[in-house]
Amino acid sequence: MFFPQFRARRIRGSETFRRMVRETSLSVNDLVYPMFSAFGSGIRKEVSSMPGIFQQSIEHIVAEAKEVRDMGIPAVLLFGIPETKDAVGSDAYSDNGIIQETIRALKNEVQGLAVITDVCMCEYTDHGHCGIIKDGDVDNDSTLELLAREALSHAKAGADMVAPSDMMDGRVAAIREMLDENGYDSIPIMSYAVKYASGYYGPFREAAESTPQFGDRRSYQMDPANRLEALREAASDIEEGADIIMVKPGLPYLDIVRDLRNEYNMPLAVYNVSGEYSMIKGAAQRGWIDEERVVLETMTSFKRAGADIIITYHAKDVAGWLGRGKI
Ligand code: PBG
Ligand code: ZN
Repeated sequence: MFFPQFRARRIRGSETFRRMVRETSLSVNDLVYPMFSAFGSGIRKEVSSMPGIFQQSIEHIVAEAKEVRDMGIPAVLLFGIPETKDAVGSDAYSDNGIIQETIRALKNEVQGLAVITDVCMCEYTDHGHCGIIKDGDVDNDSTLELLAREALSHAKAGADMVAPSDMMDGRVAAIREMLDENGYDSIPIMSYAVKYASGYYGPFREAAESTPQFGDRRSYQMDPANRLEALREAASDIEEGADIIMVKPGLPYLDIVRDLRNEYNMPLAVYNVSGEYSMIKGAAQRGWIDEERVVLETMTSFKRAGADIIITYHAKDVAGWLGRGKI
């Protein structure tokens, strides 16, 4: 059928028609809100490159988490800023570490909100890398043991799900084994299966105070030019027992989201990372773009590409806009 019999505009002519033929929907159920828990008390410090996002001590985390829960967002993803850092990231797997204390507070004081924890070393090491350093590089196999201990300590503190972001080979298997051996076989693993070495993480490193003190993360995170490698990474994490796989960053890697959606029948998450957030916020603050419209369009693009779960710093804004029936 060709023009003039076919007129694509016929079903675009009214909002009711557009609603009837809309292929992709966005819901508050799709969202996860990342939070930065800082050691101490009375802390609520805005991250300068991420307007609206704060480093907060536990009492403020609890208060904001209640707000998040009341907006209908199902989960938060926690990052920790410890009191002290050292070469082996001891706070990461201490039962009294910043994250463990935060999990306990959230589980005691906020019902009906899933607590997911980032499992990595970079927030806890003084060198800022995601594992143990040997001969000037991150050593894979000795890091696995610490990651497994970290995940276990999160589960013991009450975490509902763990999310390893380190990109060591074999970490999902190591974590799964450790959790299972200790009676936590029902705790799911959301694996940062496909995580690229990205410039878009810049603002996060200010937020989490986790900038590498030497070198970069290219020996463990993926090369942005690679697509087939993403399929191999996802396959190995699924094989090792990942329950949810993730692509990170989001917008520059929508092709990869679609590849994984086509290839695997697993729940798929996408991480709309700090730099993506900062670009929208920065442009919106200058009046260069319509923030609500651009954010909702961005979220819809993640769903259209095939993501089930969107981890985003925009989550509260999105929940507010959806609540007003905007999309
Ligand atoms: C830690 C971690 C990072 C992010 C999530 N977990 C930073 C990094 O790998 O350097 C990035 C999140 C963001 O930019 O919002 N490994
Ligand atoms: Zn890390």
